[in-house]
Amino acid sequence: MILDEVDSTNAEAARRAAAGETGPLWILARRQTAGRGRGARAWDVPAGNLAASYLFRPDCSPAEAALYSFTAGLAVAGLAAGLGASWQGGALKWPNDVLLNGRKLSGVLLESGGGRECVGWIVIGVGVNLAILPDAASLRPGAVAPTSITAEGGREVPPEEALTHLALNLERFLDIHAREGFGAIRAHWLAQAARLGQVIEARLAGRTVTGVFEDVDATGALVLRTPTGREEITAADVFFPG
Ligand code: BTN
Repeated sequence: MILDEVDSTNAEAARRAAAGETGPLWILARRQTAGRGRGARAWDVPAGNLAASYLFRPDCSPAEAALYSFTAGLAVAGLAAGLGASWQGGALKWPNDVLLNGRKLSGVLLESGGGRECVGWIVIGVGVNLAILPDAASLRPGAVAPTSITAEGGREVPPEEALTHLALNLERFLDIHAREGFGAIRAHWLAQAARLGQVIEARLAGRTVTGVFEDVDATGALVLRTPTGREEITAADVFFPG
């Protein structure tokens, strides 16, 4: 479904889920007036960039639902490569950013609801800078600088066409997730992880952990080796020192 304007495609998908929409359903908006990012931050979508959400209803717990954000990151990486962006410099940043040549191309916001034991629905919201960079004033200090598909040598395509590529890629990785489980997704993801084996910084609520990025474990947690041991981090913003 294509909307000219909506507050947020994630909010729209959640409203439809609450109203009984069974999905699977993609919602694409040409313009979002209140797009949301991780950590309750705003996500600006200038017309021409991709803002879309996928609503589906797998049978899984909230913890399992969260793992689909890695699946979505892989689909965005596939989209970027398919549009000819220079993927040699591509990498995935925990938990679900897609970087091209060290700059942020895309963000994923996964939301779920409907039940404590078993989620009733999942919405995977994807924002991709196709040709336009977000306003510099909207960036957080220290955040990875943005880039776009065209800035990295990819083809200029309208959001509708980009969504067709994204949907095919997501279908492919959802199929791997369903058939082989998160272990297979994790292996694909780690093969393209940014800064694996290097020192990174995880900013949690109230403290910062600096350590060597060793792994993403079977629960999707970021594993850092620090001078005092091993830390498994479930929620943080990651920064790359230097
Ligand atoms: C991030 O903070 O990196 C995640 C950004 C996710 C933005 C997308 S745009 C489409 C969908 N609708 C929203 O309101 N947010 C997501």
